Amino acid sequence: MQHPESNTNRQFDINSYEDYKREYTNSISDPEKFWAEKATAFQWRKKWTKMLEWSFKEPDIRWFIGGKLNITENCLDRHLEKYGNKTAFIWEPNNPDEKTVHISYRELFSKVCRFANVLKNNGVKKGDTVCIYLPMIPELAIAMLACARIGAIHSVVYAGFSSGALATRILDAEARILITSDGAFRGKNQISLKNIADEALKNCPSLNKVILVKRTGEPVSLTEERDVWLKDEESKVSEVCPAEEMDAEDTLFILYTSGSTGKPKGIVHAVAGYMVFTDYTFRNVFQCTREDVYWCTADIGWITGHSYLVYGPLLSGVTSILFEGIPTWPDAERWWKLIDKHKVNIFYTSPTAIRTLETYGTELIEKYSLQSLKTLGTVGEPINESAWHWYHKNIGKEKCPILDTWWQTETGGIMISPLIPVKEQKPAFAMFPLPGVVPVIVNDKGEELKGNEIVGNLCFKQPWPGMLKTVYKDYARFKKTYFSDYPGLYFSGDGCKRDKDGHYRITGRTDDLIKVSGHLLGTAEIENAINQHPDIVESAIVGYPHPIKGNAIAAFVISQNQRNDSNAIKKEIASLVTKTVGPIAKPEQIYIVMGLPKTRSGKIMRRILKKIMLGEKKDFGDVSTLIDPDVINKIIQELSLVESTTQGS
Ligand code: PRX
Repeated sequence: MQHPESNTNRQFDINSYEDYKREYTNSISDPEKFWAEKATAFQWRKKWTKMLEWSFKEPDIRWFIGGKLNITENCLDRHLEKYGNKTAFIWEPNNPDEKTVHISYRELFSKVCRFANVLKNNGVKKGDTVCIYLPMIPELAIAMLACARIGAIHSVVYAGFSSGALATRILDAEARILITSDGAFRGKNQISLKNIADEALKNCPSLNKVILVKRTGEPVSLTEERDVWLKDEESKVSEVCPAEEMDAEDTLFILYTSGSTGKPKGIVHAVAGYMVFTDYTFRNVFQCTREDVYWCTADIGWITGHSYLVYGPLLSGVTSILFEGIPTWPDAERWWKLIDKHKVNIFYTSPTAIRTLETYGTELIEKYSLQSLKTLGTVGEPINESAWHWYHKNIGKEKCPILDTWWQTETGGIMISPLIPVKEQKPAFAMFPLPGVVPVIVNDKGEELKGNEIVGNLCFKQPWPGMLKTVYKDYARFKKTYFSDYPGLYFSGDGCKRDKDGHYRITGRTDDLIKVSGHLLGTAEIENAINQHPDIVESAIVGYPHPIKGNAIAAFVISQNQRNDSNAIKKEIASLVTKTVGPIAKPEQIYIVMGLPKTRSGKIMRRILKKIMLGEKKDFGDVSTLIDPDVINKIIQELSLVESTTQGS
């Protein structure tokens, strides 16, 4: 079943409110027919025999059963005849003095095929996991697609993660090959990625091959037989690489996300469902045409970069910006300058970035026209109303809709979003469930809250094609995390409100996960890192509101030695977290306390610590299960002591 060109110039399915209503109704009344229609536009080696089989009880969800395909044929080969010369990526290096690189679909295709042959030549086979630890350079996207070309599973680890976090992910995914670079440029900093990787690999004896991309040119030490340069390997192979035939349900990638135990969860996505869902959501949410220039600022190391910088835009055959740097270097006008330079039409970023740039004032923005922009988006965390208005006024010039898109690593693609043709929008509201998405809001007992003007836990009733397959090597955790709190439903872990008009607003996490600058972090992972400190007996991490980052981290720690140098301990703790998890997890506040609020069963009541961080002094709700309720007052006293000494110093 081949439609080589049929969707290389596809229109959008949702062009009006009526279209949305119709698509939504069809997607619910007959999901199998609905998704079959969307899927026919792709190239399949063999059509599926059954669209969907599912259960949320013993969770098992399968899409496009029996279908055979390769996602790279849909991202690349399919576009070549008509659009081979069209730019796929405009790469903007970190340093503005370095040259911009345009990569056409044809060039991207050749690079992917050559890289795929390098992988094969280095022993990678279908079903193997390849770990990718690279900065935002074209080779990152190319490496992912090269894996997909030959049926290897990619597991991208964000290049801001530390050696400890990298090692954990390599070991869990059982990766035998790593793709990394000598170093990375990030703003004014140069980060020695190879050194970090070497440190991680000391604990990963079964990883026996490292493919190195040259980026910074800094000296690196090479381990003989293990480490090879990409350039050398490329010269040994051709740029012809037929795509491997994949089953619809084969794994495309693993991507780690924090969980409420210390160990991150390897979220597994399968080829076909992920492809159809990212394509449908990309086209209909962003409404990006072939003439548009689209820019998603997310790092490819996170799901947003996977779905809406690599796969979604390439499936649509559009032009995207791939930016290596940060918004505030060499100055805080870098993004605005790039928007004018490349006449960016669609711009998708995070609330934290918006709030950061807001602090630099509007003068820097006024130097640029930003007239090319027609749509703005945000993702990753709730956007507060004042940041929404700032973005709308100063960047969108009050003419661009803002797409506040809600979704998760687990959902694969956007689930709830404002829609451009449906003109209605409300600041800080994600608004409408997309076709195929059936949200339900339940109370803590799991009862569905019907009607409007309700607040509760956000769940989903039906599967959608982009949903995760499982947690890598841990089906029990998959079942427990997503399907056991509210049996029969997928639970997102988020709180949600449905207002009087039926619009959705996300209120934030309800579990032990914290969003810091849009990055999801698990309290247990940070606590485990802190507990490695020889003086620390126990620790508790909580999030508290922060004007730029959304949330910041406070650590409450119990030290066994009455060391007088509490500042030194705090510094040691901060650097331990940076080294084990990464700089994003570093606590903003560290309090050394005598005790923690614990229940008789030994559980730390973090909600009490959260309230203390919010300045609460009296109202802590039911504390009858605490072993020692008095511990609360002691912590409050210790905190006020710290504050008074800090103010006094
Ligand atoms: O809490 C929600 C928040 O980000 C979580 C998912 O994080 P992650 O898997 O890292 O994926 C982020 C990028 C898709 C959600 O459970 N979140 C994401 N988007 C929004 C959001 N919170 C509020 N509004 C959003 N638009």
